[in-house]
Amino acid sequence: EKGGYDYFMLKEIAEQPKAVADTLLGRIDAGGSLRLDEVRIPVRELREVDKVVIVACGTAFHAGLIAKYAIEHWTRIPCEVELASEFRYRDPILGARALVIAISQSGETMDTLMALRHARDQGSKVLAICNTNGSTIPRESDAVLYTHAGPEVAVASTKAFLTQLVACYLVALYLGQVRGTKWGDEIQAVIRDLSHISGEVERVLETMEPVRELARTLADKRTVLFLGRHVGYPVALEGALKLKELAYMHAEGFAAGELKHGPIALIEEDLPVVVVVPSPRGRSVLHDKIVSNIQEIRARGARTIVIAEEGDEAVVPYADHLIRIPVTPTLLQPLVATVPLQVFACELATARGNEVDQPRNLAKSVTVE
Ligand code: M6R
Repeated sequence: EKGGYDYFMLKEIAEQPKAVADTLLGRIDAGGSLRLDEVRIPVRELREVDKVVIVACGTAFHAGLIAKYAIEHWTRIPCEVELASEFRYRDPILGARALVIAISQSGETMDTLMALRHARDQGSKVLAICNTNGSTIPRESDAVLYTHAGPEVAVASTKAFLTQLVACYLVALYLGQVRGTKWGDEIQAVIRDLSHISGEVERVLETMEPVRELARTLADKRTVLFLGRHVGYPVALEGALKLKELAYMHAEGFAAGELKHGPIALIEEDLPVVVVVPSPRGRSVLHDKIVSNIQEIRARGARTIVIAEEGDEAVVPYADHLIRIPVTPTLLQPLVATVPLQVFACELATARGNEVDQPRNLAKSVTVE
């Protein structure tokens, strides 16, 4: 049932191109517009939405953090993202014009369920992004956009995360489409790019052997840090979470701009630091700033593991290890940048002799608060 792989996690990492393609299937029409008939919230109501609030836990929360950049950019609707476990206890300001998006692979996460119940009690509409047909979270929501990742067995979420991202992009683009923003041309172009993205994920998977080799050399380390900016920041958080849960190593993700506000004090000789570099096109200021960050940490002895777009030559002099990812539109980069981090964590866990599919102390779905 593991399809020839040693672990479900490896199988599920390999299934990502298909999972991404399946999640897009039937949702983009021949004219390049989105068709999300499943979102049974009337277009009239979607046009009235004045705030989007995303609630989720763990990896699904990281998908939500990335969605915020996409939603605010393409729709200009303010978007908040909150850990479901914190949400209802702080008396959040909701109402009939707030659209609440609950993201959950299992559809049974108690914290997320309680957050969505709270939102509905306040009169908000809830859209679930979920991978499990007929589970509790979609049943209790006003509408659901299913991710089509197929069953995810490994406790560490991989293919579900990529499909949650796809679903979030679809919702963001759809809101942009129905509300008609000034980004119309960009939205069209991104829909086109999205329809080819599974091929790019496939290309990343074909180049993962050096990442595995690198991971094996780090098996005796105690700490790994992850840095990113913009959508690369939640990718850094996700890389760190994977390493914690699988390799039982101390790992932390930071926004690269925060380095000088504290974390740079952690840098010491030979400390592995993974840096997710934004595209040099698009937001090039951020790219240049992160290149300076890499220089700074390397000057203090860090071992830099740099994830950068093909053709980005500026990072080469400062990268002890360079992992290339395909050129993608800025907002879509997490779909390709996360994959090496999954492979990295999985290989490190194996090298440390850990149980990859069933990490200690964890359950696949967390049905208690
Ligand atoms: O089923 P859900 O998406 O609601 O689960 C949320 C988290 O428990 C889950 O993503 C968890 O963080 C994963 N083990 C991370 O790999």
